[in-house]
Amino acid sequence: PVAAGAPIANKLEDLARETSIDAGQALTTNQGVKIADHQNTLKAGLRGPALLEDQLFREKLTAFDHERIPERVVHARGAAAHGVFESYASLSQLTKASFLASAGKKTPVFVRFSTVAGSKGSADTARDVRGFAVKFYTDEGNYDLVGNNIPVFFIQDAIKFPDLIHAAKPEADREIPQASTAHDTFWDFISLMPESTHMVMWIMSDRAIPRAYQMMEGFGVHTFRMINAQGTSRFVKFHWKPLKGVHGLAWDEAQKLAGKDPDFHRRDLADAIVAKDFPEWELGVQVVEEADATRFGFDLLDATKLIPEELVPVRPIGKMTLNRNPDNYFAETEQVAFHTGNLVPGIDVTDDPLLQGRMFSYVDTQLTRLGGPNFHEIPINRPLCPFHNLQRDGFHRQTIAKGRVNYEPSSIDVPPIQEVPPSRGGFASYPEPISGNKVRHRSETFADHYSQATLFWQSQTKPEQQHIVEALQFELGKVSVPAVRLRMLSNLVNVDRDLAARVAAVLGVPVPPASPRVGNRKYAPSPALSMIARGNP
Ligand code: HEM
Repeated sequence: PVAAGAPIANKLEDLARETSIDAGQALTTNQGVKIADHQNTLKAGLRGPALLEDQLFREKLTAFDHERIPERVVHARGAAAHGVFESYASLSQLTKASFLASAGKKTPVFVRFSTVAGSKGSADTARDVRGFAVKFYTDEGNYDLVGNNIPVFFIQDAIKFPDLIHAAKPEADREIPQASTAHDTFWDFISLMPESTHMVMWIMSDRAIPRAYQMMEGFGVHTFRMINAQGTSRFVKFHWKPLKGVHGLAWDEAQKLAGKDPDFHRRDLADAIVAKDFPEWELGVQVVEEADATRFGFDLLDATKLIPEELVPVRPIGKMTLNRNPDNYFAETEQVAFHTGNLVPGIDVTDDPLLQGRMFSYVDTQLTRLGGPNFHEIPINRPLCPFHNLQRDGFHRQTIAKGRVNYEPSSIDVPPIQEVPPSRGGFASYPEPISGNKVRHRSETFADHYSQATLFWQSQTKPEQQHIVEALQFELGKVSVPAVRLRMLSNLVNVDRDLAARVAAVLGVPVPPASPRVGNRKYAPSPALSMIARGNP
């Protein structure tokens, strides 16, 4: 375990035990047998044919034939770095998480930034959300904060995630990415999902074309819980604030860079670390007492909403510095497995229906991507503290578990392996009271899809607003289905009439009427309006 003030190199030392350097070594087979000829296959006669018995050739080609693993279904393109998180002060009043328990406590981290929609070989500067995933190797086990660079999300319920991603990925027939030709499927889906409007405003803004990974904010997005040693739970939102400030590219720059330097962001990250100009962020939390959960006029469990910082200021709790590049892209950046369920005592999830779905999805996909249930043993994923889980066997098992007992309770080994009560560091889910009927339902408190989109529009400077207008003109100009454009405009007019008018002018269509307001809320288009809009002319 990493103790307070312990040298921060511990995860690096842990990885170093797995690192091999080939330079200067004898070339061998997988079995360690030295190879005398690495240039020629074994042949019958001087000019062949080659012999099936050539075990050296077959071993080499077999390894090569199986080099590729599936890319991530989303966030396939990424770049990562090692670093350290240092806590500013004891946060024990809020959480019993030990990595936040004292001032100056250092915890090793591994951070992967990514784009969402593109394939592993796509360009860094595409207009997209950026993933911002942090693995803290704490002394109580790994804690993953799997966030994005935009504080809200497109959808409210995880059951829509496959639809969102199918619509955003290349179209099913030609596999041509959205960015280069038609944008029909993405905007078709979005136009029918008014809940995505707030996120669409962010995605059309300069936030979606960052200048550098080190110049992006990061957000946990969902509302999480922090629980202290007394068992008091409070709601928290996580924020990463880059110390170099938040900067974007101009759209024209982003497009040119996509051709001239598709590795623009990963190069910047690696170069900054080589130059010791280390990327740094402050981690902050917005804290809401459970009793205040309903005072905001929106639902804290709705991932399409943020808590305005004017209402609840962000309290800085620590600093993260990225100070070492990975040695091997595949072993570290590609094989790292993040999961919203990698929690430590003192941090827990809420009932946010998007987060609840993520609690299933990550490990499920990693079982395929990383080939079976033992990927927690891969060096980059392995916790720094010891782990003993009684699991056995499965593909790619590394640990040699010694002894007869792999069950609990047991009495043969003395002392036996035991569970640990929460008072001594065992994880226990927060005992949230639950009641109600089992239903497929969206809460009425999730219904306002436009107020915060308007707030975002109004928060932008004139040039920033112009960038949003131009992005929408460009994007919707690429949509070939008139009904989809019209439906998008009938969503945008609920955000701001001037915005919709400026986009409509370029598309050459009239501005549709706004939806009726109900009280202070701006609701989704009435069912009648969306029924009409659904019928494509
Ligand atoms: C990656 C699912 C929403 C952030 C992934 C992966 C899946 C997934 C399957 C690939 C993981 C892998 O292969 O290792 C989902 C589902 C969502 C959802 C089902 C909603 C229901 C979100 C949201 C965020 C987010 C709201 C941000 C708050 C990320 C990040 C990665 C990722 C950062 C990349 C992790 C890495 O760098 O390896 N997601 N996701 N996802 N997701 Fe989500």
